[in-house]
Amino acid sequence: MDRIVVKGNGALSGDIPISGAKNACLTLMPATLLSEEPLTLTNAPRLSDIRTMTALLQSLGCEVTSLQDGKVLTMSSHDINNHKADYDIVRKMRASILVLGPMLARDGHAVVSLPGGCAIGARPVDLHLKALEAMGAELDLRDGYVHAKAIGGRLQGAEFTFPLVSVGATENALLAAVLAKGTTVLKNSAREPEIVDLANCLIKMGAQIEGAATGTITIQGVDSLHGATHPVVTDRIELGTYMLAPAIAGGEVELLGGQRELVGAFADKLEEAEIEVTQTNRGLKVKRKNGRVRAVDVVTEPFPGFPTDLQAQMMALMCTAEGTSVLEEKIFENRFMHAPELMRMGANIDVHGGHATVTGVDKLKGAPVMATDLRASVSLILAGLAAEGETVVSRVYHLDRGYEHVVRKLSGVGAHIERLQEGD
Ligand code: UD1
Repeated sequence: MDRIVVKGNGALSGDIPISGAKNACLTLMPATLLSEEPLTLTNAPRLSDIRTMTALLQSLGCEVTSLQDGKVLTMSSHDINNHKADYDIVRKMRASILVLGPMLARDGHAVVSLPGGCAIGARPVDLHLKALEAMGAELDLRDGYVHAKAIGGRLQGAEFTFPLVSVGATENALLAAVLAKGTTVLKNSAREPEIVDLANCLIKMGAQIEGAATGTITIQGVDSLHGATHPVVTDRIELGTYMLAPAIAGGEVELLGGQRELVGAFADKLEEAEIEVTQTNRGLKVKRKNGRVRAVDVVTEPFPGFPTDLQAQMMALMCTAEGTSVLEEKIFENRFMHAPELMRMGANIDVHGGHATVTGVDKLKGAPVMATDLRASVSLILAGLAAEGETVVSRVYHLDRGYEHVVRKLSGVGAHIERLQEGD
């Protein structure tokens, strides 16, 4: 298996271009299932999760053409000949469940494997299913699959209140409601920029949607949707991750395409920690002020709160901050697997339930460490940027799921980082 080797090398300087959002692209791609006409996504990130979604759509009969080395994806679903999303693909990526809503809305039936557990907690899909049931889906869970049918052949508009905020369940319900008969109102829905991006794309395809950014989405179902071309929104998690690189290693880096409103709560926390964040006309400029970073407390919340997907990276920053910080994880249980790996690098962390108390140390020390999930793996690379000596991160396939050209992007601002192929 490949490894990434990072050596602490002092201050960083230069630009990092930010890619299109993985999580937005993964929910935009299944929208192709809603129309007979082609959907083209531009600004798509080149990532293994996107290739997994491509394989899933192809297995259903969609044609997917990838142009400009994968940056442009054209999908055509005029000939869906299979309504079963197989376990072999779904088990690789939970976002596969997002084909359920659109298939059901389009043809009135679908069979999708249940995704199963994953490294960061149980992650059930009950809310996806409850929202679809409210719209008149009849669901039968057997052999590890959801067998879904729309009663009367077409989903019906409904009012549904999510008992807790779920990004994926909101997306699945939205993807289904656009072709349901009548009006759907989704209350306590997620407000992440990826939801707004999905709604904007569906509106371009002819859907009638209001309130995507408000927590209550109203959808007036239509009989059919047409083709569209849509640019994938900037990846706010990649943006936040690279904002931490100069914060941790020192120096000044400009994140091209970065917009503060995508990372508001996170940027506020960085400023509280004595990091300068400036919006420019090219993106966001981040600069480490003189002196040590100040310890700050963090609580993860649904958007517009501090994102859980930046918690591991923020912990890497807190490892060498002045003082003690408490990070509280409120979205996923068991999302502190990066803590023991950071401790191998000399960090002082105490995990107790959903909290991690981090007491800053003067310096981290390079060590062999292991990536346990996507965001954990990048937190170890960030920590390595400021550590004394060499950090070797193994199991980097996690990283390939969500960070495009990580070595190129970080070495472009002066980091000492390289990827070793298996056998090197
Ligand atoms: C999405 C993101 C992921 C991010 C997460 C939270 C994608 C592909 N992934 O994941 O990177 O970390 O949002 O911002 O976009 N829950 C239930 N029942 C459900 C669904 C969710 O109990 O049916 C719970 C989850 O276990 C979790 C919470 O709701 O505790 C939020 O999860 P959710 O927002 O659904 O996350 P995902 O959509 O899976």
